[in-house]
Formats: sequence, structure tokens, C-alpha cells
Amino acid sequence: MADPPTGIAVLGSTGSVGRQALDVIRSLPGRFRVVALAAGANHTLLEDQAREFHPDLVWCQVAARHMDLKAAAGRRTRWAPMEEMAAHPAADLVLVATSGAAGLGPALAALRAGKAVALANKEVLVMAGGIVTRAAEQGRGELRPVDSEHSAIWQCLWGEDPAAVSKLILTASGGAFRDLPPRELERVTPQQALRHPTWDMGRKITVDSATLMNKGFEAIEARWLFDVPMDRIEIVMHRESIVHSLVEFADGSVKAQLGEPDMRLPIRCALCYPERIACESIPRLNLARAKALNFSEPDLARYPCLRLALEAGAKGGTWPAVLAAADEVAVEQFMGGEIRFTDIANAVDAALSAHDGRADPSLDEILEADRWARAFTAQRAARPQPVAHRT
Ligand SMILES: NC(=O)c1ccc[n+]([C@@H]2O[C@H](COP(=O)([O-])OP(=O)(O)OC[C@H]3O[C@@H](n4cnc5c(N)ncnc54)[C@H](OP(=O)(O)O)[C@@H]3O)[C@@H](O)[C@H]2O)c1
Repeated sequence: MADPPTGIAVLGSTGSVGRQALDVIRSLPGRFRVVALAAGANHTLLEDQAREFHPDLVWCQVAARHMDLKAAAGRRTRWAPMEEMAAHPAADLVLVATSGAAGLGPALAALRAGKAVALANKEVLVMAGGIVTRAAEQGRGELRPVDSEHSAIWQCLWGEDPAAVSKLILTASGGAFRDLPPRELERVTPQQALRHPTWDMGRKITVDSATLMNKGFEAIEARWLFDVPMDRIEIVMHRESIVHSLVEFADGSVKAQLGEPDMRLPIRCALCYPERIACESIPRLNLARAKALNFSEPDLARYPCLRLALEAGAKGGTWPAVLAAADEVAVEQFMGGEIRFTDIANAVDAALSAHDGRADPSLDEILEADRWARAFTAQRAARPQPVAHRT
């Protein structure tokens, strides 16, 4: 008899990762049943998705739209907050593909309920890695990475002894401005920042890729996902985005995972684990056509956000939550034309410097640090800045 379909809750279904996950689900008929769909503001797309997948539960941040959603999805459907979706008995697997801090509560609820969590939402582990990994242990939940770099490391570790890992090596494309002279960074526009050279992603992560904050977040996430201290996580620039990341083992051997830059591959890996299911639609890597693969050290002076993230990750406690919250607000300010691209790092630096942190915080202390950093960064943008930050 065929296995019953895996019940999946897709949180952030209208975003870049969420839409690609639904493509993967469509491409594997009978394998999954979508039991819940959740989105932020894009209720029109969510209604279309609800009409197609008939989930039991839906959630949209725009509360007034809940009744339309119910009408779109069918009589059985009801709306429920994301925490309830994440712990629902019919959800075997929860994809957390929301952006920002919104995914933390649902990820914790799912792990405490013993679910498998396919985690895309970076801020969850950056803000509260210790609490999230403890929740997974205590609730017997399972964390599966979705991000291409962590998926690469995860795949390199299958069948390996974790004690034999000597180093994790994360690759970074360098983002939209990797070839721009540093003095020109002050004048770049949000539209330019959104032109990533190798990946097609959501707006926030694309800007974070241009500052390399994204790579700093990934180092902090890797620290928690694979239980490897920050000083054994290395970043290497790799402009082709073909080698997605690497693991060095105690005997000096290095394993890498390669592929075309296409998020459907790591998404598929996380949703179908431990199976590798044949797929025609994902482009195959042709190494002869790729010709050269280039690697170099990151320039921390050019990418101050990477330095700030690595420092905050090494300090731990509430500092990574402040890093993530200040960055979220500063990126919004940049996208809204309130600050310059180079001010993103200044804003995050100011929040980290002013923060009175805690070393082993509770969830409440992390959430308080998050609120404090958002308010601090918002107020700071409204004040005239000292001359040192302006030209
Ligand atoms: N895109 C990638 O290739 C990629 C790769 C690795 C990791 N990630 C990480 O995965 C996460 C999602 O990235 P993305 O690129 O898919 O972002 P995105 O395109 O901006 O999508 C974010 C999703 O979250 C929803 N959302 C935002 N706030 C919400 C809230 N308060 N409640 C419910 N839903 C909310 C959005 O809804 P609306 O659109 O309806 O407002 C959207 O569905 C991020 O943390 C990102 O860093 C992304």
C-alpha cells in the first residue's frame, strides 16, 4: 500500500521560498498534503493558493481578509495563528519560510510538538539558536536546513561522525556590489541592491547579501544547526555560487556539495529527506561549462556587516537578536530611502554598541532585546547623525 501523504504546513507561502516550495509540492503529486498556509500581506496570492491546495488552516497578517480566505479555500478551512498551525496534529512537517522575527514562535511551537521543521527563516536561529535547539531536543523535533549553504553542509555530514568535523566553510557570492569600488557604495540605490548576480530571492535577503550580513547570519545559524563553535566556521568568497559550502574533517579531507544556484534543490532536499527523488526540472551542473571556480578571502573592511555579525555571534547571548532586529529595521530604512546603503552597518554597529546584553538569556529577554533594538534603530534614523557617519 502507498504511504499516506506527508501533511505539510507552509508558513510564508507567498514569499520566494514559500512559492518555490509549493512548486516542489506540485511536482510530487500524492507525496504531500498541504494542511496549512500562512502569509503576511499578499492576501490575493494566498487566496489563489488556498483555492488550489484546500488547506485545513489559513493565516494572513491582514486580519480583515480572513473571511475571503475561508471562502476561497472551502467550508472545512478555518483561520488559525501560525503557532497553532505549526503544532497541528495533521502537520508532520512545517516549512518556516516567513521573514524576520515572525517565524520564531511557530518554529518553537513545531519543535516542542515533535515536528520536523524545514527552516528557511534565518532570524529564528540567529535570534534564539540556544533556545530553539533546546526546544528541538526536549520536544524531539527535527531541524532540517533549507538555505543552500546549510543544506550543503548537512548533505556533506550525512553518514559522517560529527566529532570528526574540524571546520565548516560557508561560501559567499559577494552580492550585488561585489565589483563596485567601495567609495561608490554610499550612492547605490535600493533597486541596484536588489540585483543579485547569482540568486533570485526575497528583497530583505538580497540586500543582506549585498552587505554580507546574510553570510554572518548563516555563520551564526551554522553554529547552532551543526553544534560547531564560531571560531571553526570560515567564510570564503566564491562568485559562481556553484560550490554551496564545504566541511573539513579531522584527517584533512574536505567534502563539498555542488549544484546550479536553484533554491528548489535544497527545498526539495529538506522536504523529501531522507529520500533523493529524481527530478527533471532542476538544471544539471555542467562543470565543463562552468570552466573556473574562484575562491578568495572576504575583505572585512569592505563588508563591515559581516564583521559585526561574526562578533555578535561570538559574543552570543542577546547580541545576535539585536544584530538581526537592528538590521531588519535598517534595511527597511534603506529600502524606503531614509538612509544610505553604508548606513546599514552604522545603524547595526550603533545598536550593538549601545546594547546592555545578557549572556544566557531567556526567551523573554531575547524578545525584549529585539524590541529594544527595533525602537533604538528607528529612533536613531530620526535623529541627525554625528559627522563621522556622514560625508
Ligand atoms: N529566498 C531565498 O532564496 C532564501 C534562501 C535562504 C534563506 N532564506 C530565508 O528564508 C526566509 C524567507 O525568505 P524569502 O526570500 O522567501 O522572503 P520573502 O520573499 O520576503 O517572503 C517572506 C514570506 O513571509 C511572509 N511574512 C512576512 N511577515 C509575516 C508575518 N508577520 N506573518 C506571516 N507571514 C509573514 C510574507 O508574506 P507576504 O509576502 O504575504 O507579505 C512572505 O510569504 C528569510 O528569513 C530568508 O532570509 C531565503
